[in-house]
Amino acid sequence: MSEPLKRVLVTGGAGYIGSHVIFALQETRRYKVISVDNHHNSSPKAIERVAQIARDNLPANATAQDKDSAEIDAYTVDLTQRDQVRKVFEKYGKGGIWGVIHIAAYKAVGESTEIPLTYYENNVAATVYLLQVMSEFDCTRIVYSSSATVYGTPPIIPIPETTRLQAHSPYGKTKVMCETIVSDLCSAEPQRFRGLSLRYFNPAGAHPSGLIGEAPIGRPGNLFPLLAAIAVGREPNDLKVFGNDYPTPDGTCVRDYLHVLDLAKGHLLALDALAPESKAFDDCPTEARYKAYNLGRGKGMSVLQIVEAMRKATGFDYKYEIVGRRRGDVPDLTADPALAEKQLGFKAEQDLETMCKDLWNWQTKNPKGYDSN
Ligand code: NAD
Ligand code: WQD
Repeated sequence: MSEPLKRVLVTGGAGYIGSHVIFALQETRRYKVISVDNHHNSSPKAIERVAQIARDNLPANATAQDKDSAEIDAYTVDLTQRDQVRKVFEKYGKGGIWGVIHIAAYKAVGESTEIPLTYYENNVAATVYLLQVMSEFDCTRIVYSSSATVYGTPPIIPIPETTRLQAHSPYGKTKVMCETIVSDLCSAEPQRFRGLSLRYFNPAGAHPSGLIGEAPIGRPGNLFPLLAAIAVGREPNDLKVFGNDYPTPDGTCVRDYLHVLDLAKGHLLALDALAPESKAFDDCPTEARYKAYNLGRGKGMSVLQIVEAMRKATGFDYKYEIVGRRRGDVPDLTADPALAEKQLGFKAEQDLETMCKDLWNWQTKNPKGYDSN
């Protein structure tokens, strides 16, 4: 007899990373996924598609519980509305939700400098409300989606988790604040709360089925989705490379790209670390059961290397122009992934070629994102 399914609530489940995290959760057939999203930056179709992948992957001898794990309880909920969040928890009762993976947030760095209050409300206030409701319903395990952006301009490359946090943008500051809030709660109630922050480096790629992927609205601001949109003909062939005078091997910025499915699998390891039987917090210097981990490959890639890799994957002849530096960019953000490997057993396995191939597969099957067909 297998263990009963653990209910895990994923916020932002319809988004790029959330949908891949749900895939990873369902693949184990150990969890029952509850997704909450207000679809500010996502399509409800992502939830339908990821459930379809889970159903298609069920073995012929699937049990009723396996079949249940392939279905998602999805709610349209705005996390800034505490009552909406409470209603979801009420459905499952006290202790009914095993843990939360809190992924939902606004994430555009430039926009956050223009409307900081909106970012603080959506990312920080909503996190406070979520934690309040979790506490009320005795749900005390949380994995928080943080970002390499918390390191600002890091003094040491590769970046260890011990680096001082000094985010530059309001967006980045919301990530630092939420990490602090989760950590403070774990300190205040060490016998109840356990939390992990996962500092994502640059996720790329998509599920190899081409059913789920990143679907930005309008012209993509990030490099990978922009290169995919150009190759598929949705954007003109006019890439601007922001600066080639950085202190890096080819002068363009270096980032630590990792496959979104590797990133998603990191969340499974994080959930295991939050389980009561886990020893993950035994070495904590204080009573608090809270830790933060980098999720990256530890391999830096320059903008020009990415353009070349996407050229190989797509066969598209990119034209690009070197222009001035983009405000807020830092020369190099490469993770030191050693701590996550040692303590969580996390290792990003998939290479750049696979990221490009899977992104291109998703993009060609969905040239206009989820509304392509
Ligand atoms: P995304 O925009 O695709 O997904 C976020 C999801 O959260 C969306 O579906 C959106 O509709 C939802 N959401 C936002 N505000 C909400 C609210 N108030 N109530 C309910 N749902 C809400 O973004 P993503 O790329 O999947 O990023 C997910 C998380 O990872 C974010 O926290 C982001 O800061 C973090 N992160 C992303 C990257 C990256 O490069 N994509 C890197 C580092 C960290
Ligand atoms: C990568 C490199 C650009 C577009 C951002 C956020 C970060 C995190 C991930 C959430 C940079 C260069 C890009 C273009 C270019 N998100 N570039 N021309 O800036 O590393 O990270 O997303 O936490 O917080 O800042 O990713 O894909 O935008 O840029 O030359 O048209 O590509 O300068 O060096 P970035 P990106």
